[in-house]
Amino acid sequence: MFNISKIRKDFPILKRKINGKPLVYLDNAATTQKPQTVIDSLVDYYTYHNANIHRGIHTLAEEATAMHEEARSKIAKFIGAKSTKEIVFVRNSTEAINLVAYSWGRSFLKKGDAIILSESEHHSNIVPWQILAKEKKIKLYFIPVKDDGKLDLDYFKKIFTPQVKLVSLVHISNVLGTINPVEEIGELAHEVGALFLVDAAQSVPRMPVNVRKLDCDFLAVSGHKMLGPTGIGFLYAKEEILSSMPPFLGGGDMIREVYLDHSEWNELPFKFEAGTPNIADAIALGTAVDYLEKIGMENIFRHEKKLTDFALRRLGKLSYLSIYGPKTVENKTGVISFSVKGIHPHDVAQLLDQEAVAIRSGFHCAMPLHQKLQMPSTCRASFYVYNTTEDIDRLVEGLDKAVKIFQ
Ligand code: ALA
Repeated sequence: MFNISKIRKDFPILKRKINGKPLVYLDNAATTQKPQTVIDSLVDYYTYHNANIHRGIHTLAEEATAMHEEARSKIAKFIGAKSTKEIVFVRNSTEAINLVAYSWGRSFLKKGDAIILSESEHHSNIVPWQILAKEKKIKLYFIPVKDDGKLDLDYFKKIFTPQVKLVSLVHISNVLGTINPVEEIGELAHEVGALFLVDAAQSVPRMPVNVRKLDCDFLAVSGHKMLGPTGIGFLYAKEEILSSMPPFLGGGDMIREVYLDHSEWNELPFKFEAGTPNIADAIALGTAVDYLEKIGMENIFRHEKKLTDFALRRLGKLSYLSIYGPKTVENKTGVISFSVKGIHPHDVAQLLDQEAVAIRSGFHCAMPLHQKLQMPSTCRASFYVYNTTEDIDRLVEGLDKAVKIFQ
């Protein structure tokens, strides 16, 4: 059962006071807080098991290797991958997308090919492709975002030519909270033989995601947005595609044999994991997965939908406030961007901080989307498993106070 007061007790940081007031943390799209079990897992690893993995035969090395690979198995099961060979540990979803661009993109794309992205992408799903496009002389097309925050799928169908070799799309927008119809888009991509990459940085933490159901070829995820530590994330890719790709980085662990004139690559997924990996954080990410599974992703999704619905209704009544993107929870969850008439978003965030309410202001690593919205920046409140409707009441009280100060 979903017991919010019990859940809140698992997060020590929520006991903090800022300016003498209890913390309301609404910056979850940037990073989430960590439950005690995840913090303990890091301490336990360094206290009792620390060793390098895949190399030693002493007890500590074997324990550390087993713990690291167990974390990989938990992640594979969590997203419905066929095998652990399909899970590559990386630093974050940005690195996952860069890995695909560097390895797959450089090997398989040629002059005249095209990639479809959307206007609502995070910079991490635009910039690697721009670099590649310049180098390989390939075209980038962008699916427009409509005023209601949804993608213009009619336009998408028009730009869909046989030259398109990849569609790379965000699942849940980190600015608008829009849930994009990725299953439908993936099907269309596969119809013309293109591969499909899903930027799941905001979706895997918030809703059940099954890669076999989605039938995506690549999925990029950051651990720190799903209760895990920073500096660890993963790339899911279908085994046959990973097998066909050359290594991303060269070094130790990714090789089977090295000679002075050539090298042979290790089996999957190690072929893509050069050097000593982020062992402790991968293990702690496995603990985060345990925590999420114990609560249940369906329950987390339902809780976030309820909070988002409540917040949209409360914020929708404020005459001084404009909300961007979907105004209902039908195709949206967890993230609401808005502006307050006459007050710069940075000032709003600063005044809210005085009330111990943490939101983000700026362009949230999505400048092209802000150009489309014709907004230099916005305020963003984003929710997670430990937030309550009282947190949203505190946000609204803080906003009212900010507006009074500015009047
Ligand atoms: N991508 C993170 C955000 O949206 C940092 O805030």
